[in-house]
Amino acid sequence: APSDPDLVERARAAKAKLGERVFVLGHHYQRDEVIEFADVTGDSFKLARDAAARPQAEYIVFCGVHFMAESADILTTADQQVILPDLAAGCSMADMASAEQVAECWDVLAEAGIADVTVPVSYMNSSADIKAFTGRHGGTICTSSNAKRALEWAFSQGEKVLFLPDQHLGRNTAVREMGFSLDDCVVYNPHKPGGGVTPEQLRAAKMILWRGHCSVHGRFSLDSVEDVRARIPGVNVLVHPECKHEVVAAADYVGSTEYIIKALDAAPAGSAWAIGTELNLVRRLAKAHPDKQIVFLDKTVCFCSTMNRIDLPHLVWALESLAEGTVVNRIEVDQETEHYAKLALEQMLALP
Ligand code: 13P
Ligand code: SF4
Repeated sequence: APSDPDLVERARAAKAKLGERVFVLGHHYQRDEVIEFADVTGDSFKLARDAAARPQAEYIVFCGVHFMAESADILTTADQQVILPDLAAGCSMADMASAEQVAECWDVLAEAGIADVTVPVSYMNSSADIKAFTGRHGGTICTSSNAKRALEWAFSQGEKVLFLPDQHLGRNTAVREMGFSLDDCVVYNPHKPGGGVTPEQLRAAKMILWRGHCSVHGRFSLDSVEDVRARIPGVNVLVHPECKHEVVAAADYVGSTEYIIKALDAAPAGSAWAIGTELNLVRRLAKAHPDKQIVFLDKTVCFCSTMNRIDLPHLVWALESLAEGTVVNRIEVDQETEHYAKLALEQMLALP
C-alpha cells in the first residue's frame, strides 16, 4: 500500500529541519516506506562502515535491528547518538546466544583442554556482550560478506573456531568455501549440559558451531529449491548463507544482501531468478528489474517481523523528536563492553 502522504511530508520536513545533523541508515530488509528516507542502504557490513564514516552527524538513525544499532554505537564517536526507531526491533538469532551461555561454553571448551587453541568468530548478528566476549578472547566479528576471510584469519591464529550464533553461516562457509567436511563441524547446544557433545567430539572438531539460526531463512527447504526448478526451467537459485546447508548446497549462488543486489544488477535481461532471503528485499528487486523474472524462493510469505517493526510512523516519531531536541530510543553500549566489542569489530574491519 502507498504510504500515508501526511506522514511522508512530516518525515521530509523533520529531515530537512535536521539537515546534516542526522544520518539515516537503512538495511536492505527494511520496508519501502522507510528505505525512501535512508541516506544510505546496505548489508550489515556496509552499514557498519558507513556509520563509522559519518563523524559530522550528531544523530545516526538506524533503520534495522538492535544489534546493528549497537554496532553503530560502538563504531561511532562518543558524542554521536544512535537511535533505533522501535526498540522492539530485535533479532531472534542474536537472542539465541546470551553472555552467560557463551561463558559457560568457554568453560566447557577449557575443560576439554581446547580453549587455548580456539578462536571465537562471532557473526555480526549478536549482542554487544557477545562481541565483547569475542574481543576478550582474541577473536573477530564477521558478516555474511566476509565470513570466509574471517575464518581464514581465525585459523591463522588458532587450530579451532567457535562460531556463533549462526550454525548455518558457520557450516556453509567452512564447507563451501574452506574445504572442510561436515564431519569437521560439531554443534554446541547451549540448552544441554556440556553443549550436548562429548569432550572427544570437541577435540576432534575444527568448527564448533553454536546452535543458533535465523527463523526467516530457516523456512527455505530443499523442497523449495526443487519446486522452483520444476516450475521455472533454467531458473538461477540465489540464497543468503543463513539458509540451511542443504539449501545452500542446492543453490547456484550464495551471498549477502548486498551481493544479491549486485548479482541481479549484473544479470542479463530475460533471466529468471529465485531468491532465498527476506521478502521486502525480494519484492524491491522484482520491481527494480521488470526485464527479469524474479520470484521468492518459497510459496509462503516471509518477512523478518522484527525488521518490519521499523515503519514510517516510528521513523517520523524519531525524526520529529530529534528535530524538537528530544533524543528518543537511544542505543548506548556501556564503556567496558564497548571497549572489548570494538576490538573484535576492528579486527573485522582490518581483515584483508
Ligand atoms: P546481510 O549482512 O547480508 O545484510 O544480512 C544481515 C541479516 O540480518 C540477514 O538476515
Ligand atoms: Fe535476524 Fe533473521 Fe531477521 Fe536477519 S532476517 S535480522 S538474522 S531474524
